[in-house]
Amino acid sequence: MNEVAAYVHGYHPRENERLQDQAGTLADLLHAGTHYAAGRRVLEAGCGVGAQTVTLAVRSPGAQFTAVDVSAASLAQAEAAVMAAGLSNVQFRHADIFALLFAPQSFDDVFVCFVLEHLARPAEALAALRALLKPGGTMTVIEGDHGSAYFHPESPAARAAIACQVELQRRAGGDAMIGRMVYPLMVQAGLQDVSVSPCLVYVDGSRPALIEGFTRRTFTAMVAGVRDAAIAAGLSDADAFDLGIRDLHRTAAADGVFCYTFFKGTGKKRRG
Ligand SMILES: C[S@@+](CC[C@H](N)C(=O)[O-])C[C@H]1O[C@@H](n2cnc3c(N)ncnc32)[C@H](O)[C@@H]1O
Repeated sequence: MNEVAAYVHGYHPRENERLQDQAGTLADLLHAGTHYAAGRRVLEAGCGVGAQTVTLAVRSPGAQFTAVDVSAASLAQAEAAVMAAGLSNVQFRHADIFALLFAPQSFDDVFVCFVLEHLARPAEALAALRALLKPGGTMTVIEGDHGSAYFHPESPAARAAIACQVELQRRAGGDAMIGRMVYPLMVQAGLQDVSVSPCLVYVDGSRPALIEGFTRRTFTAMVAGVRDAAIAAGLSDADAFDLGIRDLHRTAAADGVFCYTFFKGTGKKRRG
């Protein structure tokens, strides 16, 4: 359970709100093509506050979801979110991906979103999850990659603030640039027919919902969230960091542009 101590984003209410904003804004982009037929048993590993769980359960109402997370507090919020949405096809378990107590081949499908980036041993996590799949079962993995962030106006201060986030995540054992590794990690975990789609978020002045939902409330909020930790670690000082955040907000102006790529991988467990 030591992964909790290493979780760079933390579990405070502002971060929980950010995860919900992120999921709401990106639901169509990230969940396109993800549908589980009636009767499928689906494991969501690292469900957090249920930001993806609600979308999954709404879009596949006949499937039965089991959502696990290492944080009991996040699970309680996820359960509340699922209840508030009036869903009855999700059950929750407090569990560590590296110590799951389900029998091998318990699930038809596994869904993992924004979790590998926080793990020191992501391939091992995927291999453990693969063991829970029935032969022929599917795995879906979604991760971002901070190296894919580019924007206008360009700003060394904004890049430096993002680099603080990347470095803190690295020191916590994770990898904020793991998106580019989704394909090799899934192959390494023994999955077959692996296919990765880059999901580009493109934001300009004509897309106010994405300006607010992604540039400001998802990406900039995430970087801003490490301000105190970055200063305490000596990676930045307050003025330099705040300038970086100001410049990230500047990309959300009417003449600004922000781009980011998520990577969505799907693969199967070999039959027989
Ligand atoms: C960035 S959040 C993503 C939550 C959710 N999947 C989403 O997309 O909103 C990462 C989650 O992974 C969980 N987590 C990290 N390490 C874990 C582990 N070893 N086992 C289970 N959950 C873990 C954290 O507690 C956190 O809730």
